[in-house]
Amino acid sequence: MLQNVSKLQVQESKNIVDIEKIIQWRDSSYSNDLYIAAVSWLDLFTWLDGNPATERGIIERFSLKERPAQTMLRLFEAWTLLSQKDGRYHVSNEARRFLSQKSPENVASYIATMKYKSSVREIYDVLRFDESDTWHVERGIGTTWDDLMQTDDFADLNTRGMEERGRIFAPDLTRLLDCSNDTKMLDIGGGSGIYSAHLLNSNERLSSTILERPPVDDLAKACLQEKGLLDSRAFVSTCDMFVDSFPADASLHLYSHVLHNWGFEKVALLLAKSHEALAPGGRIAVYSCHPDDRNGQPAPALEAEYSVLLTTSYEGRCYSFEDMRKLFEGAGFQGIEYYRSICNRSLIIGHKST
Ligand SMILES: C[S@@+](CC[C@H](N)C(=O)[O-])C[C@H]1O[C@@H](n2cnc3c(N)ncnc32)[C@H](O)[C@@H]1O
Repeated sequence: MLQNVSKLQVQESKNIVDIEKIIQWRDSSYSNDLYIAAVSWLDLFTWLDGNPATERGIIERFSLKERPAQTMLRLFEAWTLLSQKDGRYHVSNEARRFLSQKSPENVASYIATMKYKSSVREIYDVLRFDESDTWHVERGIGTTWDDLMQTDDFADLNTRGMEERGRIFAPDLTRLLDCSNDTKMLDIGGGSGIYSAHLLNSNERLSSTILERPPVDDLAKACLQEKGLLDSRAFVSTCDMFVDSFPADASLHLYSHVLHNWGFEKVALLLAKSHEALAPGGRIAVYSCHPDDRNGQPAPALEAEYSVLLTTSYEGRCYSFEDMRKLFEGAGFQGIEYYRSICNRSLIIGHKST
């Protein structure tokens, strides 16, 4: 009997630990720290209890920066600790009961026992100063992810990581993105070129140019060489996407997991460059995690959690559908399409007029 039970448990755990979970445990890793920071360092729920406030009011009360504050509020809406009514954030019954120090049942001090944990302090700093501390590989030396991506070991590890993730995600992007009428695409910040490789293998008339900076450009060449695609249908162009102009003969621009690393202004710059360079009738395809807020609903929890990682460690966040719609329309794209993919990812496509 005992043997049967343990067999069953093994079987159950096999079913539970799927690739979605494997990815999620990494992507969601900062969200609990943000929760502890908000309960302890801000005591947010006690203040909001009986005092519903606007986003601006919360930012001013706690001297927060806008980007991390918005990510925090989206997370707590997703977790149903807060809800919005008449433009103000209200605590939920559960948040009032357990996280407001006005409640006899609250456990706020229990949560706050973890307030000195380094990653909780790190997030508290991000909330107030909007500066990431994640990439202090050598303690005390201030470094950004962007700086490190231009050094060999870090770029090598990250590009291998992107290639591995792409092996899981690229088949689904290929299912969602119809390229049967395209002959030339640009894969901007294309990493190892894994998404291009899958699209090329499914679309025999298509060729792709991967735009990358050193040293990732050479890593991309090596990956594409292994796949037998380099310099026949896949080309690597060394460039800085923010500075250099884009070649003007592609009908499709792909940004996979690129725009979410950057703030609104840099995203708007890239979209404007794409709009200018794309052929008339061309398309832009953005693949990442984009919470669907078209019906005014909060983001799904896992998507709001991934946004905390991007906000904490990079300059960006998970841009929601409405965020992207404004950015696309601001750059001149229209006819916006939205498709759900695996592991909380989604594809957004915009069209340049003919
Ligand atoms: C998160 S990775 C995504 C890679 C790939 N698109 C994928 O989904 O696997 C972002 C990529 O953007 C590239 N990148 C960052 N800044 C860049 C710049 N200024 N010009 C060109 N590429 C850049 C990085 O080298 C990195 O490979």
